[in-house]
Amino acid sequence: MGPIGVFDSGYGGLTVLADIRASLPQYDYLYLGDNARAPYGTRSFDVVYDYTLEAVQELFDRGCSLVILACNTASAKALRTIQQNDLPQIAPNKRVLGVIRPSAEVLGSLTKSKHVGILATEGTVKSNSYVLELEKFSPEVTIHQQSCPMWVPIIENNRHDSEAGRLFIQEDVKRLLEKDPAIDTILLGCTHYPLVKSYLESILPNHISVISQGKIVAESLSDYLIRHPEMEMECSKNGSLQFLTSENTHVFNEKASVFYNGPVDAVHIKW
Ligand code: DGL
Repeated sequence: MGPIGVFDSGYGGLTVLADIRASLPQYDYLYLGDNARAPYGTRSFDVVYDYTLEAVQELFDRGCSLVILACNTASAKALRTIQQNDLPQIAPNKRVLGVIRPSAEVLGSLTKSKHVGILATEGTVKSNSYVLELEKFSPEVTIHQQSCPMWVPIIENNRHDSEAGRLFIQEDVKRLLEKDPAIDTILLGCTHYPLVKSYLESILPNHISVISQGKIVAESLSDYLIRHPEMEMECSKNGSLQFLTSENTHVFNEKASVFYNGPVDAVHIKW
């Protein structure tokens, strides 16, 4: 038995972890942020895949049987290869899950106009993962995407409340709505973006809902554990929480506590 692993390139996955832990507090969790190599959003497919596999292996080595990629970029660029090619070789009894599929599964039920928008990193948008997944679950829904390459650096540097930061955010939202004025539901397809959710709600018309992924992923994990008792049995239940980062822990702890909305005391890992 071991903790449930939660991985992100940096801080964003902490927004998902907070919701997972709120709905499934009984389990142990091990969070890994690859802050030293973040952001992943503008990196190539091969690099994101290599880094993500390395992180998954690290979490496996530390006893996790189930790992959640709480990062859209890693889910878009690495998940399928890890599930199909790597797991059968390196750990046939372990599982890795992502955040794109659970979000795509519910998106169709959240929109009335049947027009949705995705705000995400360049990597996630270019992968077309949301378009392909949504087509499977809700082919009647029209989807438009907008990449927001500046948002992760702006948010990580705590500049999202500044005038300059807000200008970048406004510009990308405007671009998305110009692509399709009928959009009534916008998914924050990057786990960093919940930090700007209330600002987005303040600049968008009332009929447009802004959806973040934390609760969706938490519900999907809860459902997964019910449907897979053999995996559930592998997850230890002492309610503990540990953080790992590839960056300096001092820097990580300070910023991570904002994303997690609670105290963070991380351990440094060297690859
Ligand atoms: N949080 C990651 C995501 O959900 C992106 C952050 C990054 O660019 O590293 O896509």
